[in-house]
Parts: sequence; structure tokens; C-alpha cells
Amino acid sequence: MNPLKKKTLSPRFSDLLEKLNKASEKKQMSLLLDHPWDEPIDNVWLKKRENISIYGTSYYDLASEEERRLLSVYETGAWWYTFIVFENLVSEYYMKIVNHGSLKRFPEVVKYIHHFCKEEIVHAMVFRKAMNYFNIAPFPVPLNLREIYSHNASMSEFPLKAIYLTILIEWLAENNAMEDCNSKEISKLSRAVAVEHHKEEARHIEWGKNMIREFIDVVPDFLNEAREITAPMLRSMLDMSISSIMVYARVGFKDKAFKNYKELIPTVLNAENRKKINSKIMAPMMRYFVEIGICTHENIEVWKANGFEKDVEDAIEYFKKKSTNEGDIDNVMDKDYD
Ligand SMILES: [Fe+2]
Ligand SMILES: [Fe+2]
Repeated sequence: MNPLKKKTLSPRFSDLLEKLNKASEKKQMSLLLDHPWDEPIDNVWLKKRENISIYGTSYYDLASEEERRLLSVYETGAWWYTFIVFENLVSEYYMKIVNHGSLKRFPEVVKYIHHFCKEEIVHAMVFRKAMNYFNIAPFPVPLNLREIYSHNASMSEFPLKAIYLTILIEWLAENNAMEDCNSKEISKLSRAVAVEHHKEEARHIEWGKNMIREFIDVVPDFLNEAREITAPMLRSMLDMSISSIMVYARVGFKDKAFKNYKELIPTVLNAENRKKINSKIMAPMMRYFVEIGICTHENIEVWKANGFEKDVEDAIEYFKKKSTNEGDIDNVMDKDYD
């Protein structure tokens, strides 16, 4: 069936849209009032020590305490800058969908896309404000991030693939950011930037997950393509987000070992500590892929080949213990982050 011929939304999705639209109407992030913009900036860590990329490796011992702290500042800053670029791209693309009329049969969806775009523009401005506050200059952004919509989002098609790629990025990024800031030891402002962002992103992700559930059956080939591209894409996003030569260069480590990127990069990517953080990031996503059939017994080799064997096993185990996934929506809407 052509998705544009689908006339009505399921009651479950309509109910979610009503809740999401109400939540966005009630409260959206303020550029001025939701963050402590008077926090000191000297000697603060912007993410927790255990999550800087060199933690748990021999490089951690080679770095001075100030270099470790600077790594927490620049790794977070690089992350914020990637958010700025990505969120500007998403809002441009989603507004194009609205103006193109692809979803005009579903006005409640279109209304939420407007909230979504408005929220992303404010987020990008807050990340920019935070970078200025901590005196962090922009970083180069990988070209493939800019290409994500130009290559995957022609206006002539129903936008399910682009929506799917968007939630993959948002979800992975959010899980990572929440792991990074989950500590009382870091800057209160940095933590607030992540937590306030997450309150709205959790809704974006829930919307995206349910857009896929709603339209997966009416977009031919989506599922087969998703089965092929998801695991390699997540692998490269995880690895790219962890190690950045630009960030290491900006910290300016004194020890020469940090100049040998051929040793440094694989060491941080394969560190046991990083693998543990990655599994926490992947766990909820993996359960979703199993639930909607993007990870199945038939394509399990793709997941294994990309290093997600344990994550797949954990997700399958989860479903053996728990037969229903109800309650997700309310968890997102009511969660308390303080
Ligand atoms: Fe955002
Ligand atoms: Fe978002």
C-alpha cells in the first residue's frame, strides 16, 4: 500500500501524538531560564572522568590531570558542535517535509513536526551558547553527517528512511550524553545542558520509534534495507563519536605516545571500559530492533560482524523474560531526571 493512501492512524499512535503535542505546548526549553548560566568555568569537567575516551587504558596514566580534564571539555564540546550541525540539518529537512505536503493527511503528525523543529532550533542555540560560555571553538564535522539528508531523503519518497536515520542518531547521541553527564562531579551547567536536552529528545525519539512502527508495513523495502544498514551505521557512529584526532590535537598532550594515532585510536575503541559504556548505550536500541524485526535470526550475522553479538543476546534474553513492551510511552513522559 502506498503510505499516502493510509487514511487513519492507529489509536495507540494517535494517543501518543496527543500526549507529545500537549507536552511540547506546555513547556519548551528556554534559552535563558533552564540552565545555570552563571556557573564557574575554571577547572570544571564537562563529562565524567570514567567516560573520557582514554579512561581504562595505559594512555590515561600517561596524561596529566589537566590534560584529562581538557579532554573532558573538548570531547564534550565536539559532541555539542556535532549536535548543532545535526539539529540544524534535521529542522531544515523536517520543515521541507511539512512544506512538501508528504504528511498532510496526518495533521497531528505535522503539528508535532513543527514542535520538533522549533525545539531543535532552540537546542542548537543552547549548545552554541554553552560552547561560547566555555570558550570552545567549533570542530570540523564529518562530511557524512552533512550528507545524511541529501543522500537519503528525496522529497518524492515517503520520508520513513530519513526519519529512521534521524532517530538512530538522536537515540545513540542521547544515550551517550546521559551516560557522560551522570555524575555530581561535573559542571552543573554541562549536566543541565544534557538533561534539559534529553527531556525534549526523549519525546523526539519516542515519536520517531512510533512513526516507524506505524508506517513500517506500508513502505516497501524499508525493513530489508534497515536490516542491512543499521548495524554498520551504528558501529561507525559509536566509533566516530568516541575518538577524534582533532580533539586529541586540541588538548595538546605532552607525551609523544598521543601522536601515534595508529596505536591510540584502536586502543581507545577496544578498551573494556568503552565496551561497557557502548553496551549501555545500545541496550534499549537493540531491544527495539528485535521488537520491530530489524534484528532477526536471519540477519544476526550482520550484527555479529559489527561487534554487537553480546548486545543481541542481551536483547533476546530481555524478551524471553518480558513478553510486553507496554509502558514505554509513559516512562518517557513522566521521567524525573534530578
Ligand atoms: Fe535536540
Ligand atoms: Fe531531537
